[in-house]
Formats: sequence, structure tokens, C-alpha cells
Amino acid sequence: MGMGKIMVQSSTKVLFIFLVTFAITIPCLEAGIGEFDDFLKAEAEEAHKIALDTYIPVPEEVVHDLNVDVHLAMEEANSTRREMKEKHGEGGPCESSNPIDNCWRCKADWAKNRYQLAKCGKGFGRKAVGGLGGPIYVVTDESDNDMVTPKPGTLRFGVVQKGPLWIIFERSMIIRLNQELLVSSNKTIDGRGVNVQIRDGGGITMQFVNNVIVHGLHITNIKNKPGGMIRDSFEHVGVRTRSDGDAISIYGSTNIWVDHLSLSNCEDGLVDIIYGSTGITVSNLHMTKHNDVMLFGSSDKYTIDKIMQITVAFNHFGQGLIQRMPRCRYGFVHVLNNDYTHWQMYAIGGSSGPTILSQGNRFIAPDNNAAKEITHRDYAPPEVWKNWQWSSEMDLFMNGAKFVSSGAPINRAPYKKGFMMKPRDGTAVSRLTRHAGALNCIIGKPC
Ligand SMILES: *[C@@H]1O[C@H](CO)[C@@H](O)[C@H](O)[C@H]1NC(C)=O
Ligand SMILES: *[C@@H]1O[C@H](CO)[C@@H](O)[C@H](O)[C@H]1NC(C)=O
Repeated sequence: MGMGKIMVQSSTKVLFIFLVTFAITIPCLEAGIGEFDDFLKAEAEEAHKIALDTYIPVPEEVVHDLNVDVHLAMEEANSTRREMKEKHGEGGPCESSNPIDNCWRCKADWAKNRYQLAKCGKGFGRKAVGGLGGPIYVVTDESDNDMVTPKPGTLRFGVVQKGPLWIIFERSMIIRLNQELLVSSNKTIDGRGVNVQIRDGGGITMQFVNNVIVHGLHITNIKNKPGGMIRDSFEHVGVRTRSDGDAISIYGSTNIWVDHLSLSNCEDGLVDIIYGSTGITVSNLHMTKHNDVMLFGSSDKYTIDKIMQITVAFNHFGQGLIQRMPRCRYGFVHVLNNDYTHWQMYAIGGSSGPTILSQGNRFIAPDNNAAKEITHRDYAPPEVWKNWQWSSEMDLFMNGAKFVSSGAPINRAPYKKGFMMKPRDGTAVSRLTRHAGALNCIIGKPC
């Protein structure tokens, strides 16, 4: 088997330990896999190899770069705004001010140049280019009746095609997925220019895949589904067990970017990232009416999640949210410039010593005096969690919100002689997240 080869390639002992753990304990039931056949085993192994290659030993570099980009984007937006104001009077045609959106939104021809989005990723998921280099595929049919041989024109047909594919939608539509949608590698789902709602059915799953962008969808009221025979790629159909009812579920996958989604009211999580996934950015989402919002790492047993590196940036955690924004295990999570306007229990939590860097967020605590604390630690006494590295920098605390820090400071970048760009502080957040959620873009106009 390929193990020997991987061992030689992994430079550190630590990574080798992950690999061994991985090989032994793949939890099939939780993975939704009915039969872990040779095809899936090979896929899992390949996916894990890509994850190890993508994991970077100094995540602070990515943190630093994103902070630089935020500064540049805000300055650029300032001068553009000034120009617009001079030319057009108050409120120009485009007022993007975050570094992801700046890359495409203000160009009137964005719909002719959809691939531009592939260059706009930031943070740990910056390498996701999705269907770049592949053809455009247009979803013309909202039905979802055949899980094994999906009908041409449906979304399910697109996501299991071979090779890169850029998936767009002919018109606004409501798609009720019969089962979870298994998206294969090298795909972009691009809902810009129309109103696409994935609702009242299965959610979107990425398992053992690499390089996917999901952009511009409304996903709501996702339900658990019983499973059965489902195609997961061009070459493979397999038995799936029950799916949980997550809006977005990322399992053992790498280089994934989810951007500008409006998510609410699902049966399980809104964004779950589990089982050794890494290289992921969750940006510009607008989330409402939900209990367990984001789960990063599903069990204290899966030490494989130590390679997890995730950016959570420019999101709006809005009305009716209760907890887990996110809830983390192991791994490194950069929580940058998000707007936390509502939580009922806590905002950011975790167990098993995750590293959490909270920078430039706005936290508005609920009125309930028992829920002012942003942070929440599970399954460990203070003498243990005091060593977990959770730190807050330039966050804005309102209505009594309180971040309890622990562990050694994170942002001592061991490169560039300790220089580290400061984040934009929490007062910039309302501008950075103003357009969170699926956008209403009109083709032919700046968005
Ligand atoms: C943008 O302009 C405002 C008002 O002129 C100023 O206060 C702010 O510092 C500027 N921001 C940046 C990033 O230059
Ligand atoms: C995805 O694209 C990369 C780069 O072109 C390629 O190496 C890889 O084999 C593709 N993966 C799949 C599953 O098609």
C-alpha cells in the first residue's frame, strides 16, 4: 500500500502519527459511508495526502497576509468612495470594502468573467480555485429525482462530473435535494446573478475532496435524509447512511472556500468542518435562526484535526443564533472581522486545546447576564485549559461582552523578525460585513 511512500514524504514524525491514527479509525457511520470500499479507501488516502501537503507549519503567515489585505482593501475603498462621491454624489454604484469582494464585485462585467472569483480567495482556503479551467455548466432543472444517474441539467448532474466544472444557474430556483448533495473535487457552485435556494431537503456535503468553491446560495431548512445509493463522483456510486441535516458539511477535505451564503434554520449544523479537513475559508456568510452554528472537529478522539487550519472572516452572526460560532477542537482557527450581533449561550468555544485567534471582531453580548462571556470551554478544568492558546486582539466588546483569553500569545510570527500586521479593529466590522450573505447581483452592473 501507499503508506510507505507517504511516510517518506512527510518530513515530521507528528504527521506520521496523524497518518497512522487516520488509517485505523475512519469512523464510517459518522462519515455517512455505508460500505468503505476500495475506491473510497483510495480516495480517503489521497485526500489525506493532499491535506498534509496543504497544512502549513506557520499559520501566522496566512493571518498576517489577510490582515495586510484588509488594510489595503479598506484604503482602496476609501479612495474609490471619495472619487465616486466627487463624480456621482453620495453613494457610488459599488461600495465593496472587503478584500475578497474588492477582487470582483465592482466590475460591471463580473458575469462575463466568472472565473475571476477563483482568484479572490483569502485566508487558509485561498488556494481553492474550484472549477477554474473547466467549462461552464448551467443548471436548468431544479428537480432531484435520480441519485445514481442524475438527469442532465440538474445541480446533482453537475457536481459529479469528471474534471473541473464551473456551475451556474439559468434562473432563480428552489432546489429541494432528495438526499445530501455530494460535491466532487474541482467544482465551483456559483449562484451569482440569480436567487438560488437550497431548502427543505438534503444539504451540501464535501467528503474526501479537494478544491471546491461554494458561492452565493441561500440554504435553509435542511433536513436529515435516510441515505441509500448515491453517486459521489463520476466513477463511483455507494451506499450512504443517514445524513445529519447540515447546510454545509466538509469531511476530510482540503482547499474549500464557502463565501456569501445565507444560512438558517437547519436540523444539524450550518457549517461543519470535520475529520482532518484543512485549508478552509468561511467568509461573508449571513447566518440566522439556528442553534449549533459551526462545528470544527466533531470528536475529542479525532486528533487528526490537529492539521485543521480555518479562516472565519467577514461573517455576520445574526438573529436567533444560540452557540458554536464556531466550536473548535484541535487545529488553528483565525476568527477575523466578524460581526457577532446575537448569541444566546456563547459565541466561540471548544475542547481539546484548539488554537483560536480572535481579531478585530465586534461582539455585542445579549442582555442576559449569564451569557456575557464570548468564550466557552468544554471537558477540561482551568488548570488544563489555561494552556490552550485563545487570544483576542483589537476586538470590540459591547453590552458587557467578555473574551476570556488563555495560553501563550499566538501572534509571535517567527518570520520577519516578529513583525505582524495588526488587524483592523472591531469598529471596521460593520463596513466589512455589510453585504454578508447571498448578494443580489444584477448581470451587467457592478454588484
Ligand atoms: C477612510 O476615511 C475615513 C474618513 O475620511 C477615515 O476616518 C478612515 O481612517 C479612512 N480609512 C482608511 C482605511 O483609510
Ligand atoms: C483536480 O484538479 C487537479 C489540478 O488540475 C488535478 O491534479 C486533480 O487530479 C483533480 N482531481 C480530480 C478528482 O479530478
